[in-house]
Amino acid sequence: MDLIERRKRALGPSYRLFYGNPVHLVRGEGVWLWDAEGRKYLDCYNNVASVGHCHPDVVAALASQAATLNTHTRYLHVNVIELSEKIASKMPGDLSVCIFVCTGTEANDLATRIARTITGHAGMIVSEYSYHGNSTLVHTLSTAESDERPDWLSLFEAPCRYRPAFKGDDLLDGYVGSVRDAIGSLKRKGQEPAAIMIDSIFDCPGTIEAPQGYFQQVYKTVRDAGGLVIADEVQAGYCRTGNHWWGFEHDSAVPDIVTLGKPMGAGHPLAAVVTTPDIAARFAAKFDYFNTFGGNPVSAAVGKAVIDVIDNESLLENVTRLGAYTKAGLQKLQNKYDIIGDVRGRGLFLGIDLVKDRASRTPDADTALKMINLMKDEGVLISKHGRYENVLKIRPPIVFSKDNADQLLSALDACFSRL
Ligand SMILES: Cc1ncc(COP(=O)(O)O)c(C=O)c1O
Repeated sequence: MDLIERRKRALGPSYRLFYGNPVHLVRGEGVWLWDAEGRKYLDCYNNVASVGHCHPDVVAALASQAATLNTHTRYLHVNVIELSEKIASKMPGDLSVCIFVCTGTEANDLATRIARTITGHAGMIVSEYSYHGNSTLVHTLSTAESDERPDWLSLFEAPCRYRPAFKGDDLLDGYVGSVRDAIGSLKRKGQEPAAIMIDSIFDCPGTIEAPQGYFQQVYKTVRDAGGLVIADEVQAGYCRTGNHWWGFEHDSAVPDIVTLGKPMGAGHPLAAVVTTPDIAARFAAKFDYFNTFGGNPVSAAVGKAVIDVIDNESLLENVTRLGAYTKAGLQKLQNKYDIIGDVRGRGLFLGIDLVKDRASRTPDADTALKMINLMKDEGVLISKHGRYENVLKIRPPIVFSKDNADQLLSALDACFSRL
């Protein structure tokens, strides 16, 4: 029986595979992945092994701590404290207390519980077509997946400028108004806002970056209504968007709670809620928090190594430089191919919006699907997503080089020319 059939039987049908002809990966190093036949792929998709697959410093930190001790946070250990201090040193404002968990879902679940405890309200505000995770609570906050709309939930429109949700010249005003409307809708249902949970780049709707001033205004709108701001940095954090460690910093906005995950452990399950001492103390007045695996010495060693690699290898600067270079290359392709309606994103978090024709901006999901398979055959792994499944998603490990960017751009050129 082949591996696909065995997998179907063993894991059940809810597991999905990428590509018409799925890849069977057996090894990774830096930006490179190898399949079982020895074929090498340039990884332009994976943001978890963000500092590169199997980074030797991360592997060494993990192996050394695993060979020494692994317990949990009910014993004193220096690793978890140092990790928290390192994260705090990268955060703006008063965001200096970390609570460690294992997944982005757990972080968002806990962040919601904290916001509800602090405010005494239940209402949550999320964007249309959001994804924040997979627990029962967070699945309901993931409006791209769940169609449950309880009274305590209200939705706003992600600030897409290419296919605006509003008429009129002032899109920023329209999109901030959409958050105001979501608060109004909660109130009409007898609810008050506990928090908005908001991506710093809206990934699921199709790599949508907010216009300047948006986060400042949205944060103020929510706080004026008595709610807190939870910035979901599970994807946008850890330098992914360039220029800053965190996506919300592009707008000099400071959230009340930040959730971290994916790149934080470079493949090791490590995630966190970061908040202020005041919020942490008010939550602790009501609840203890214990997570068997969250913040254990091995996970914390990995988390520290990831931050050190980013600093030692100047990866924030790399993302800023290579992100701009790659985006400029994509914009050149946009001038060449009418099918590219829009190029979006920041840093190494980029999206190519494919359209049937530029005038109508009608999404072209079929071609997006075709493109990711053609790209795989060219030896470059990307994916697609978006509200209309028509956006090519480019989000490589942040150790991406100019040569890697050139390979990506020429593979895209070759595949677009073959359509
Ligand atoms: C923005 C965002 N938040 C939260 C999550 C959930 O993280 P996890 O899969 O680690 O639970 C994801 C996962 O894709 C995500 O993209």
